Amino acid sequence: MSFTILGICGSLRKASRNMGLLRCAREEMPAGYTLVIADISELPLFAEDRAKPQAAITLIEQVKSADAFLLACPEYNYSVAPALKNALDWVSREAGALFAGKPAAILGAGGGMGTARAQYHLRQTCVYLDLRVLNKPEVFAQAFSPAFAENGDVSAAPEGQVLRGRIRELAETLCRAIG
Ligand SMILES: Cc1cc2nc3c(=O)[nH]c(=O)nc-3n(C[C@H](O)[C@H](O)[C@H](O)COP(=O)(O)O)c2cc1C
Repeated sequence: MSFTILGICGSLRKASRNMGLLRCAREEMPAGYTLVIADISELPLFAEDRAKPQAAITLIEQVKSADAFLLACPEYNYSVAPALKNALDWVSREAGALFAGKPAAILGAGGGMGTARAQYHLRQTCVYLDLRVLNKPEVFAQAFSPAFAENGDVSAAPEGQVLRGRIRELAETLCRAIG
């Protein structure tokens, strides 16, 4: 059996640390589990009377075929970054409650609190979507630390290795939740 986890990152910038977390998670997936990272950079802001753009159609198809989700959650002004919320909003209006009952995990990189405030806001949205979000391990990474390289990758420094271990633990727990 092989399973697919869909990663969605709320930061669109090139050297995003949050995207770096997803790349690290992709490397740390156990055998038989593949992390596919969604491209939400072309998604327009959701509006109910707007025709579904190709970017939304692609994302919806990826969500349908995913067994679980890994959400990389930057913190913007103490809450969820709009690109991530917007992506969830596009999928949520599709018939069939596409997230319902599927496992999900959250991780994030940011300032002092490592996106904890945003992650807890995101959990509220996940309740409505009926995602089964892991409670632990929590990954609150320090974006402005040696844990990250210049391009956003998790670094080989000791801080990066600790973070990588935490991400591996999260990936393994998420995969176990799939069954
Ligand atoms: C609009 C904006 C608001 C931000 N607000 C917060 C915040 O509330 N808390 C925080 O820890 N970092 C905040 N930051 C800093 C981000 O944590 C930092 O830019 C981080 O690197 C973003 O993630 P990324 O590297 O994946 O783009 C903010 C950044 C931006 C651009």
